[in-house]
Amino acid sequence: MKPVAVAVLGRGVVDPDSPVIAADDSALARGQAAFETLRVYGGRAFGIDEHLARLRASAARMELPDVAREDLEALAHQALAASGLQDAALRFYWTGGRDGARTATALATVTPIPDDLETLRARGIRVVSLDLGIDHAARARSPWLLGGVKSTSYAVHVAALAEARRRGADDAVLLASDGMVLEGATSNVWWVAGERIRTPGLELGILAGVTRSHLLRLGRDLGYTMEEGAWPLDDVLAATEVFLSSSVREVIGAVAVDGRTVGDGHPGPVAMALQAALRSEATRGA
Ligand SMILES: Cc1ncc(COP(=O)(O)O)c(C=O)c1O
Repeated sequence: MKPVAVAVLGRGVVDPDSPVIAADDSALARGQAAFETLRVYGGRAFGIDEHLARLRASAARMELPDVAREDLEALAHQALAASGLQDAALRFYWTGGRDGARTATALATVTPIPDDLETLRARGIRVVSLDLGIDHAARARSPWLLGGVKSTSYAVHVAALAEARRRGADDAVLLASDGMVLEGATSNVWWVAGERIRTPGLELGILAGVTRSHLLRLGRDLGYTMEEGAWPLDDVLAATEVFLSSSVREVIGAVAVDGRTVGDGHPGPVAMALQAALRSEATRGA
C-alpha cells in the first residue's frame, strides 16, 4: 500500500512519491536492510520500544552501520505528524547505506490500515502449509541463515504467499523439512490443543513477534496455559482453533488448514478473547 507520509534521516519529511534509496544502496543491491512494522492506535505507536529493540538487533546481526535511537524516534514523529493519521501502520527501514559510505539510510513511512482487515477477521482466513526446505534446527545451527532477523529479504515470504493464493488460500504457514511448524509468512502461528494454546518456540529461529510476546502474557492473564515448543503439522491439524498474529493484523483466526475446516469453520472463542485483550491493551489511554 502506498505510504501517505515518508521521513528520511538527514532529509526530514519528503514527498511520498520521491525516490529515497540510491541505486547502490545495500537494500537494493543485496536485500540487506532491517525493517519493522508496527501499529499506531490513536496516534500512539504500540510496542515501539520492543520494535526499536528488534530493529537494532536485526541491524546488528547484519552488521549495518549504526543509527541513533533518537533519530529513529524523530523519523517516526515526523512521518506520523505529516500523515495526519491517528490509526495507521508505521514502518522503519534501516539499510546498510550506499556502497562504501559506511552510513546507514533510515526512513519511516506511514500507511493506512487495510480497509478489508476487519471483514477478514470476522470471516477468518484459509491457510496452507508450505515446506521451507530446511530442518527445524537449521536456523539455530547456522546463524548466517539470519533466523529471527527481520530483514527486507522477503522475496521468499512473498513467494510463499503467492503460492498460498494459487492454492486458493489467504496465507501460508511455513514448515521445516521435518514437518515441524515454524511461523506464518508474515506472522506467528498459534493453535488450541485441548486446554492448551501452543505456538512454536523461538529456538526454531522464527521471528520473535512483538504481538507474540504480548499474547503469551495476555493469554496467561486470561487463565490459559500457553505453551512454546516444537510440534509437527499434525498437531495443528488436530487443533480446535488456529490463528495468526502480527502487529498490523493483530489476531486473525484461520478457518481452514490445507483445505480441512478448523473447528466449526468460524474464528474461535480463544482467538476472539486474545484479540479483544490485545486491542484493549493497545488502545488503553490512546
Ligand atoms: C515472518 C514473521 N513472523 C512473525 C511476524 C509477527 O511479528 P510482529 O508481531 O512483531 O508483527 C512477522 C511480522 O511481519 C513476520 O514477518
